[in-house]
Amino acid sequence: MKAFTALVKVLSIAGLSSLVDAKNIILSNDDGWAATNIRATYNALKEDGHQVLLVAPVSQRSGWSGKFDIPSSKTLETNGEFNYLIAGEPSWGHESDDMNIWYFNGTPASCVAFGLDYIIPRYFNTSNSSSFETVDLVVAGPNEGNNLSPGTFAISGTVGATQSAVFRDIPAIAFSGANTNNSFFKDSLNNDSSNPSNIYAKKVVELVDLLFETQIEGEPVLPLSVGMNVNLPPVGSISTTNCTNPKWVFTRLTGADSLGYNVGYNETTGELYMATQDFKALAKCASGVCDLPSESYILAETDCQSSVTVFDIDYDAKAELSLPIKCRLNSIL
Ligand SMILES: *[C@@H]1O[C@H](CO)[C@@H](O)[C@H](O)[C@H]1NC(C)=O
Ligand SMILES: *[C@@H]1O[C@H](CO)[C@@H](O)[C@H](O)[C@H]1NC(C)=O
Ligand SMILES: *[C@@H]1O[C@H](CO)[C@@H](O)[C@H](O)[C@H]1NC(C)=O
Ligand SMILES: *[C@@H]1O[C@H](CO)[C@@H](O)[C@H](O)[C@H]1NC(C)=O
Ligand SMILES: *[C@@H]1O[C@H](CO)[C@@H](O)[C@H](O)[C@H]1NC(C)=O
Repeated sequence: MKAFTALVKVLSIAGLSSLVDAKNIILSNDDGWAATNIRATYNALKEDGHQVLLVAPVSQRSGWSGKFDIPSSKTLETNGEFNYLIAGEPSWGHESDDMNIWYFNGTPASCVAFGLDYIIPRYFNTSNSSSFETVDLVVAGPNEGNNLSPGTFAISGTVGATQSAVFRDIPAIAFSGANTNNSFFKDSLNNDSSNPSNIYAKKVVELVDLLFETQIEGEPVLPLSVGMNVNLPPVGSISTTNCTNPKWVFTRLTGADSLGYNVGYNETTGELYMATQDFKALAKCASGVCDLPSESYILAETDCQSSVTVFDIDYDAKAELSLPIKCRLNSIL
């Protein structure tokens, strides 16, 4: 057994001490490797004893969903986010003082694959003292901005990273925060307990550790094909109610208050704008637990609560919905 994974750490949840093994976690996002939220979460998961490999886009890739981009050249053609890297530098690489923090000129989904297929075999294989023999979990985010219900869930790059991991048999959780400023960690990462990035990082550790603590031995931390979507409310300096430790609420993706996008047209200015609408399809419950509140409801209508949704990548409609359609196509199917 490798030295690192043999480590056992003590953690305290709800005042109880329990033992959780140090886990191997890939951390990604869509706001870029230099965003404050991901750096705060990297530090918190590491301080908690986990082995973390951060692999995230060199630039802002919000809304890119599961798009799978590979760099078309070995060097960057444009500067990265916050000009932290500049055109001409390599298209992938790591912090000079930390081999566990990598950037990749790709999308969130391809960053996860780059970590699994390139970085780990070359830099964290079993001949290294700190190896990633298995990846126990992919954590994406916390995104800058909530990713709620099908409307944003379907386009989010943070969710795209998560789904791409679940496609590959790896449990994954997307976290999204309400702090929307695209901030550079060198400007905004501090040890201030009212900094939303620090509060979110603590909440990520709390949920991740509880999942590992309750994991059934010999089984993955989430069942095959299952992932989670977690949204965190305004906290700390961006909370108007001094929310510092939001409560968890079990939710579903669809349901009342769920929004999708539409196109608005301003008659005065002649300009188009992006708007939202509560389409009926977004409130329908066809699978899952129908009496749960939607994640949109929890974030929009309640205070200081986080939504916790479990999703499945089996996108097929239920048989009772799909078979009648097949019947209608009987002459050709
Ligand atoms: C394993 O990792 C070491 C150190 O990073 C590296 O030198 C070696 O090439 C890797 N092995 C393979 C098969 O890539
Ligand atoms: C938003 O982020 C930018 C980039 O890091 C930073 O310069 C600015 O101060 C931040 N704004 C606020 C209100 O935090
Ligand atoms: C935050 O605290 C850690 C550990 O106490 C320290 O190493 C680090 O320099 C501090 N960071 C800042 C930005 O003050
Ligand atoms: C906000 O909450 C924190 C922690 O619960 C508490 O220490 C602090 O005094 C509160 N601040 C205000 C302005 O109520
Ligand atoms: C249309 O644009 C005008 C001028 O900028 C603004 O005052 C108004 O609120 C806009 N209307 C809508 C529906 O966005």
